[in-house]
Amino acid sequence: MAERPNHAHLWPDTARISRDGRLLIAGLDVAALAREYGTPLYLYDEDTLRGQMRAFRQAFASRWPQSAVAYAGKAYLSPALCALLMEEGLELDTVSAGEVGVALRAGFPPERIHLHGNMKPDAELASALDAGGSGVGRVVVDSLDELARLEALGRERGRAAPVWLRVNPDVRAQTHASIHTGHADSKFGLDLASGAVLEAARRAAASPWLDLAGLHAHAGSQLFDAAPAAQVVATLAGLAATIRDETGAAPRELSPGGGVGVAYTPEERPLDPGAYAGALCAMLREEAERLRLPPPRLIVEPGRAIVARAGVALYTTGPRKVTPHAVFVSVDGGMGDNPRPALYGARYHAALAGRMTAPATETVQVAGRYCESGDILVQAARLPEARPGEILAIPVSGAYHLPMASNYNLVPRPAVVFVREGRARLVRRRETLDDLIRLDAL
Ligand code: LLP
Repeated sequence: MAERPNHAHLWPDTARISRDGRLLIAGLDVAALAREYGTPLYLYDEDTLRGQMRAFRQAFASRWPQSAVAYAGKAYLSPALCALLMEEGLELDTVSAGEVGVALRAGFPPERIHLHGNMKPDAELASALDAGGSGVGRVVVDSLDELARLEALGRERGRAAPVWLRVNPDVRAQTHASIHTGHADSKFGLDLASGAVLEAARRAAASPWLDLAGLHAHAGSQLFDAAPAAQVVATLAGLAATIRDETGAAPRELSPGGGVGVAYTPEERPLDPGAYAGALCAMLREEAERLRLPPPRLIVEPGRAIVARAGVALYTTGPRKVTPHAVFVSVDGGMGDNPRPALYGARYHAALAGRMTAPATETVQVAGRYCESGDILVQAARLPEARPGEILAIPVSGAYHLPMASNYNLVPRPAVVFVREGRARLVRRRETLDDLIRLDAL
């Protein structure tokens, strides 16, 4: 039985080290795959994807039977991933007609799709209500203006639009400023203090063209503590009771969003799905009883925690440069395929896929290929001395890399390979020069 890599909690479940020190995923030699498909390459381990989907499903189903896990597609979405989500019984949280369209083309049932967003263009709202004939399952309303537009669209179609109201819960979560969304001055959601939430609930309850199915809020992303999300559950349950008292009908679904944190570096530890589900379900049980609410359906929206650790980014190393200030090891990708270090100061771990057991002898900056000095993928990677032409692997690359990737410097975006039980399949080919110019007129 081959060994697990160092810092095993950062690598896919099937990651192993061969006897000669090479990284294996799903039984396949990772450096060999990188050479076969070219780099940068994004590799996803299907067992880890399915394992995470099941872990969340079971953590909630065992504690709160009327629950669902709606994967947040913004973290990474593709037809191949949609197929796994359907097989594992997840729902899907989307934020654009593009995400809805990809899911529908992959055969995702429209009634299991939820549409979020603080600015849904008219055409996108209308197409969501028509998706697959009967429309998406829920539209998450972010403003009073949007509620009015949805009511008009419902009237035109002669059927009520199923809505959740997105509430700004004013929860301050410990995370990076760009990804904490639940504080009172955030652009997201209907404001609690000004009475916008109750106003929206009254209007929805009074309209035959709106079905006020539920309430939603999202405390922030990359949270290591379940308390802010549990606090959101309490806020939503309290609001549901207030809405019942005011309108006679309680929203029957509550969604505290996503945000489950993952470990990117050896020192970090992920938030466990069981601990997360335990905190949320205990709070819901307590509040539903206290407020005498019929048990609401609970819908959570993890994105990153489902896909991040399943994905590994692979690069070919280029020149190594020693300066009085730092040692730089350059790679053939960077902020074009992973803008997170440049955008958020995100930190990563790195390893040489062909020499996983060689002792680390230096601390280097892994420099991306893009023409910006801020394009440093890893600030302080501990590595053996890397020779040009080796394969550098960065784990925990499955979330918010490819969906945020760009063609900056006109570099084609990477290929994506899914691996499972000794087999690899290309699920997205690498872009070509033709792809880069196909939308342009000469
Ligand atoms: N639900 C809602 C309403 C959200 O706004 C988000 C993320 C999620 C669910 C999923 O959150 P997750 O479980 O993935 O943390 N680009 C940033 C993350 C932005 C997250 C925005 N909203 C990053 O790379 O860290």
